[in-house]
Amino acid sequence: MSETLFYSGKAKDVFTTDDQNVLRMVYKDQATALNGKRKEQITGKGLLNYQISKLIFKYLMANGIETHLIENISATEQLVKKVTIVPLEVVLRNVVAGSFARKFGQAPGKRLATPIIEYYYKNDALDDPAINISQATALGIVTPAEIEVIEKQTKQINQLLIDLFDRADIDLIDFKLEFGRYDGRLILADEFSPDNCRLWDQTTHESLDKDVFRLNKGDLVSVYDVVLRRLEKILGGS
Ligand code: C5P
Repeated sequence: MSETLFYSGKAKDVFTTDDQNVLRMVYKDQATALNGKRKEQITGKGLLNYQISKLIFKYLMANGIETHLIENISATEQLVKKVTIVPLEVVLRNVVAGSFARKFGQAPGKRLATPIIEYYYKNDALDDPAINISQATALGIVTPAEIEVIEKQTKQINQLLIDLFDRADIDLIDFKLEFGRYDGRLILADEFSPDNCRLWDQTTHESLDKDVFRLNKGDLVSVYDVVLRRLEKILGGS
């Protein structure tokens, strides 16, 4: 099998396969913050993110959301459809936290009257600047029709995941999604793990996500393990 590195990200490497429509995605034991400026190796993180993302993508697919996931091939590797990533980070917020709290001087934990969707232009050299829909469409990053699909799917995914995490006694505070073009459609790509969402325990209100690493609040692996075990209880393992 002739494979080459197709893309190396902060938390995953992606390789080509013999099938030009299929990529192999490998989850890494690396945690980053400040857009990659702070980096640490954390043994076991790749496996946990892989397992959590796999469960969540399978749950979303079972509920009608199309994703890039084809199959899981080993403890940290998945085969995925080769999409063309739309260079937008799609952030949805249910509750005030993180950069939104800082930007608008709002108290973290305040529930928003309606979910907010924000967009960031995926560009490491520019530190992923915020971008609005008219900027993104005028620059040809995305079409107006595509933005409609992205908004609709993001809201649908939000509702499905609020319900899922609620059953695990977890509040879904916010999250980031990425979409890719595939065969004329937009499908959910990348991953969904505690690296790219905020999850707060409903009883203790403690973070069960990457804020543990960002804010040095404890041991990331044991916290991610709590999320996995609670999801497995609801969705089963495998
Ligand atoms: O930092 P901020 O509050 O803007 O993050 C909002 C959400 O998007 C968080 O769940 C965070 O983990 C996620 N995010 C991400 N990748 C980025 C920026 C934010 O997954 N580059």
